[in-house]
Amino acid sequence: MGKVYYVSKNMGLGMLILAVTALAIIIALSIAYDKERAKNQGKPGDEASEGTTMPTPSTTPFTPKEPWDRYRLPDSIIPIAYNVTLWPRLEPNTDGLYVFTGQSAVVFKCVKETDLIIIHARKLNFTTFLGHHVKLSGLGDATVPAIQKTWLVEKTEYLVIQLSSRLTMGAPYLLHSEFLGELADDLEGFYRSEYTEDGVKKVVATSQMQATYARKTFPCFDEPAMKAVFNVTIIHKPGTVALSNGISDSVIDGVPVKVTTFEPTERMSTYVLAFIVTDFGYIQSNQNNLMIRIWAKRNAIADRQGDYALNVTGPILQFYEQYYNTTYPLSKSDQIALPDFNAGAMENWGLVTYRETALLFDPMLSSTGNKERVTTVISHELAHMWFGNLVTLRWWNDLWLNEGFASYVEYLGADYAEPSWNIKDHIILYDVQKVFAVDALASSHPLSRQEEEVNDPAQISEMFNTISYSKVCSPEKFTQYPMQDLLQTYFIYYYIIILYTDLWDHLQQVGIHIPHSVHDIMNRWTLQMGFPVVTIDTRTGSISQKHFLLDPDSVVDRPSQFNYTWFVPIKWMKTGVEQQQYWLLHETGMTMVMSAVFLSHPTKDWVLANTNVSGYFRVNYDLGNWDRLLSLLNTDHQALSVINRAQVIDDAFNLARATIISTTLALRTTKYLSKERNYIPWESALRNLDYYILMFDRTEVYGALQAYLKKQIQPLFDHFKILTANWTKVPEGHTDQYNEINAIGIACSVGVEGCRELINSWYRQWMENPGQNPIHPNLKSTVYCNAIAFGGVQEWDFAWRMFKNTTLASEASRLRSAMACTKAPWLLNRYLDYTLDPTKIRKQDTTSTIQYIARNVVGMPLAWNFVRARWSYIFEQFGKGSFSFANLVNGITKRFSSEFELQELKKFKEDNFHVGFGSATMALEQAIEKTTANIKWLTENKAEVLKWFTEEST
Ligand SMILES: *[C@@H]1O[C@H](CO)[C@@H](O)[C@H](O)[C@H]1NC(C)=O
Ligand SMILES: *[C@@H]1O[C@H](CO)[C@@H](O)[C@H](O)[C@H]1NC(C)=O
Ligand SMILES: *[C@@H]1O[C@H](CO)[C@@H](O)[C@H](O)[C@H]1NC(C)=O
Ligand SMILES: *[C@@H]1O[C@H](CO)[C@@H](O)[C@H](O)[C@H]1NC(C)=O
Ligand SMILES: [Zn+2]
Repeated sequence: MGKVYYVSKNMGLGMLILAVTALAIIIALSIAYDKERAKNQGKPGDEASEGTTMPTPSTTPFTPKEPWDRYRLPDSIIPIAYNVTLWPRLEPNTDGLYVFTGQSAVVFKCVKETDLIIIHARKLNFTTFLGHHVKLSGLGDATVPAIQKTWLVEKTEYLVIQLSSRLTMGAPYLLHSEFLGELADDLEGFYRSEYTEDGVKKVVATSQMQATYARKTFPCFDEPAMKAVFNVTIIHKPGTVALSNGISDSVIDGVPVKVTTFEPTERMSTYVLAFIVTDFGYIQSNQNNLMIRIWAKRNAIADRQGDYALNVTGPILQFYEQYYNTTYPLSKSDQIALPDFNAGAMENWGLVTYRETALLFDPMLSSTGNKERVTTVISHELAHMWFGNLVTLRWWNDLWLNEGFASYVEYLGADYAEPSWNIKDHIILYDVQKVFAVDALASSHPLSRQEEEVNDPAQISEMFNTISYSKVCSPEKFTQYPMQDLLQTYFIYYYIIILYTDLWDHLQQVGIHIPHSVHDIMNRWTLQMGFPVVTIDTRTGSISQKHFLLDPDSVVDRPSQFNYTWFVPIKWMKTGVEQQQYWLLHETGMTMVMSAVFLSHPTKDWVLANTNVSGYFRVNYDLGNWDRLLSLLNTDHQALSVINRAQVIDDAFNLARATIISTTLALRTTKYLSKERNYIPWESALRNLDYYILMFDRTEVYGALQAYLKKQIQPLFDHFKILTANWTKVPEGHTDQYNEINAIGIACSVGVEGCRELINSWYRQWMENPGQNPIHPNLKSTVYCNAIAFGGVQEWDFAWRMFKNTTLASEASRLRSAMACTKAPWLLNRYLDYTLDPTKIRKQDTTSTIQYIARNVVGMPLAWNFVRARWSYIFEQFGKGSFSFANLVNGITKRFSSEFELQELKKFKEDNFHVGFGSATMALEQAIEKTTANIKWLTENKAEVLKWFTEEST
C-alpha cells in the first residue's frame, strides 16, 4: 500500500524456498507450512483424533482448540485456480441497498489428509445447495466425500465445510459457491464510490483487498502465500467498462448486460486482486507492446489531469526493468484515480488504485509539491509490481521488508523519471528523520514480529505504520551491501514466496565481506527497537554507542537479547577525505586510524561520521570536533554535502533534547543558515526550530527568537527576490521552489520588510478579480494564510466564499487551513462554531479544522475552551474509533508547557471520565506526559535560550 499521507507515508524459520515450477512451489509451500503449523498449532482437522489420540496441546496456553477458531488457515489445502464471476449493481435494489452477486469455483488440492475445508468468507450471503453453502466435486478419479455440514464463523471470518470422509492426498477438487454481498461505501473489499459529474450522480464499483478484504468479495484462501491463478468475469451495464488485473479477452455486449472476461492472471495473492466497473475515461500509451492507461473521471481526463501520470509511468517501468533485471511481469499497466479511497494508493497487480491527489496533476492549478507526490506514489506502487507482487513475503509480519523496500526504491524510480529534482536527497527529510523521531521513544517497537504474533486482521493492520514504511529504507543501511545485486538474482525464481530471513541467507551466499553473518547483523536492527547514538572522541580515537532515547528520563521496559547494542557500519570522512568504513561491533571501540591521524592536527582536522546518512544512527562528538564542524559550516558550508548539513542540524537538536549536548550547541548549528540557500538543511532546521516556536511564542523569548530568525531568513528572502526577478517568475530548481515557499512564509511571519506588502497585494488583486487568481499554486497556502493573518473580516469572508465555490479538492483544503490563520478572536470563535455545522464544514474535516485553529497562537486557548465545553458532544460525534480524533488532543495540547496547563489537562481528564476519551485515550495520557516534559525543558532552558537569541540577534 502507499503511505497514508495526511491521515498521516518484521521473523521466521529461515527456510529457503526457491521454486521454479508451479509444482515445486506447491510442494515447497506445503513443507514450509507443515513446519510452521507443527510449531504453531495442533494438527488441523480430524475431530475424532482430536478427541481421543491428540497428544497434550502445544505449550502455547491460548491456542484455540478448533481449527476454525484460529486465525491462520490450516495447511492441508492449497488453491490452484479460481473462476470468479462478479456482478455489481450500480443502482440500489428495492430495499435501497447496493449489492453484488457472484459465483466462484476454486480448484484446490489436498496436501495433507483432512475431512475439513476451511476457506475465508466475510459478510457474504450464500445460496444453498441441498442445505449447504457450497458444492464439492472432484476433478480426477478420486472419490468425492459427501458434505456433512457447513457453517460460517464470524470471528475468524471462515466458511467451514465438514466432510463425511477424508479428501485424497494430491487429488484436485472443485469447490463451487454462489453468493450475494453488499456493495457498501465502506472502502473495504468490493465497495462503491460516488461522485457527481456535470450534475449527474455516478457510482463506481471498485475494490481494496489488502490486507484481509478479498474474503468480503468472494470466498477465498485469503493469505498472501496462498497464490493462485484467477479467471475473472465481470457482468456490468452497457456504457460502463470493467477492469481487473489482466487484459479483458472478450466482451459480450448483450442486452441488458455486458459480460467482460479477463485473461487468466499470473499466479498471485488475493490481496492484490482488483475489480472495477465505471464509466471513467482514460488515456493510453504503448511502450514495447505494453499497454499503459491512466483512468479517471471523464472531466479530469478531459482537463488533461492524467497526462503527467502517463508521462512518468513508462520511464518508471523501464527503470525497474533495468533495476530488477526482469521484464515487467504483466501485459498491461492500468492506474486509476478514485474519488473515495482509504489509503494513498494500492499496488493491485496490473490495476493500481489511487486517491485522486496521488495520481492527478493539473499543470495550471497544482503545486510542485502535488507533482512530486504523484511521481513518488506512482514510483512506490510500481516498485511493488515486482517486489511484493511477483515475489511475495510469506506472511504479514514481514510487511516491513515489502514496504520498507518500496519506500526506498520509489526514490530511485522517481529520480529516473525526474532527474533534475535530486529527489534521492529527500529520503533524509521524509523517511529517515521521520522514523528517527518515532523510533527514539521508549514506546517504539522492533521492526520484526514473530509470525505467531501477527494473526487477526487488527494485528495485521497495525503492521502498516511509520516504522514499517520508513525504518528499513533498504537493508543497505544496515549492511552497506547493494540490494540491487541481491534482488536481481532473486527474480530469476518467479512467483516465490519468501521469508525475509531467506534474503539474509541469500546475501550470505553471495559472499559479501562483513564482520559477522548477515543474520547476526540484521537481527540487531530488526529484533530490537530503536537505534544507537555513536559518540566519537577525536582526542583519543575512541568510539562508543548507546541506545538513543529522546527523553532521558524514559524507561525502556522492553528487554532486548542484544542489550541495545548494534553492529554499526560507520562511513566517515576526515577533513573532507572519505576514510575506510569502520565497523563498531561492541559498546566501545577504538580506531587506531582515527587517533593516529588526530594526534597530528588536533586543531585543524575535523571528523564527520555517517556520511550522507548511509547508516541508521545519530552521531555525537567531543566538543572540540563540534566546534571545528561549526566553524567549517560558518566558513565553507559546502565542504559538507547537503544531506550532511541537514543531518548535523537534526542530530544536534535531538541530542540536545536528550540532554546529551547543550541547547546552545544545537542552536549554534543554525548560525550558518544566513549563508544557506538549499532547501534540505533549511527544512531540517525549521522543523527543529518549530519546537522552540511552540514553546516560546507566548513568552518574552519570542521577541528575540523572531529577531534572530529575521536576521537569518533575510538573505534567503532577498536571494529569491532576485532569482524570481522581483517575484515575477518561479525558480527553476525543484527544491528551490520549496525553499521559496519557506523563505516567504518565515519572512512574513517574522516581519521581513516588503514581505507582507507583497502578499497583501497578491491577495487584494485576487479579491478584486476572483475569477483570476494571480497567486502561483506553489505559494497559495502561504499567501492565503499570511494575507488572512494580517487582514480582517473582508479577507476572511472572501476566503470563505472561495472555499464554498471551489470544485478542486486541494484548493478547498488550502483555504480551509488558511482561514485558521486570522488573529481576530471573534473570527476564530465563529470558525470554531462552523466546524460543528456540517452544512459549513464537512464532518470528515471537523477535527482537522479545529487542529488548524489550535496551531495558531491566538486560536489555541479558544480551541481548548471550545473542545472542553463541548466534549461530550464532540466525543459522541467523532470519538468512536476515528484515527484523527487522537490528533485533535495532540494538536490542541502541543504548546502546553506550564504547571497551570498541566492542572487544566488533569482536570479535563477527571471531569470527563464518565464520558470517556475513545481513540484519544492514549493521546491524552501522552499529552500529560509531554506537558510534564515540556515544563521541565522550559525550566531548564528558557534563560539560556533567551540569552542566546538576544545575543545572536543583534
Ligand atoms: C481459466 O482459464 C483458462 C484459459 O481459459 C483455462 O485453461 C483454465 O482451466 C481456467 N481455470 C479454471 C479454474 O477453470
Ligand atoms: C471456468 O470458466 C471457464 C470459462 O467460462 C469454463 O470453461 C471452465 O469450465 C470454468 N471452470 C470451472 C472449474 O468451473
Ligand atoms: C444477507 O442476509 C442478511 C440476513 O438475512 C440480511 O440482513 C442482509 O441484508 C443480506 N445482505 C444483503 C447484501 O442483502
Ligand atoms: C507530457 O509529455 C509531453 C511530451 O513530452 C509534454 O508536452 C507535456 O507537457 C507533458 N505533460 C505534463 C503534464 O507534464
Ligand atoms: Zn507499498
